[in-house]
Amino acid sequence: MTGAPDREELIAAAQAAALLAYAPYSHFTVGAALGFADGRIVTAANVENASYGLSLCAETVAVAKAMAEGLRGGLQAVAVVGGDGSGPTLTPCGRCRQVLSELAQLGGTDPLIYCVGESEVLELRLSHLLPLAFGPDSLEK
Ligand code: THU
Repeated sequence: MTGAPDREELIAAAQAAALLAYAPYSHFTVGAALGFADGRIVTAANVENASYGLSLCAETVAVAKAMAEGLRGGLQAVAVVGGDGSGPTLTPCGRCRQVLSELAQLGGTDPLIYCVGESEVLELRLSHLLPLAFGPDSLEK
């Protein structure tokens, strides 16, 4: 039986993904790894743009990748790391919290978010980072 990826596996996947970041403007590389109930891991890095405001965060690219591969739920855990993890603890930006929440809500899960930093790995539920989230159900009349 395949289980959800464990914490260390997910963090290692996020660190590897950060190596592929396209961040020539901020020079701040980020890697994200989404862990699913069936053991799948979907990774991504931030993708910046010469029109700075159009840059995409690693978590957002990862959700888009996963959904474009047909995944619609089972999101159990997410690891997010800045660079090689030797900097301050990285918590997902507000937009990424909302983007992650869409995929989580589709599958009825409240994923653990591993926020990696030099001196700690914060382990927080998405609902803690984004309480009272707006989502697919919010549109029902
Ligand atoms: N970034 C992410 O990839 N994820 C976050 O949650 C925060 C910020 C990226 C966006 C930009 O490419 C760089 O980090 C600096 O803000």
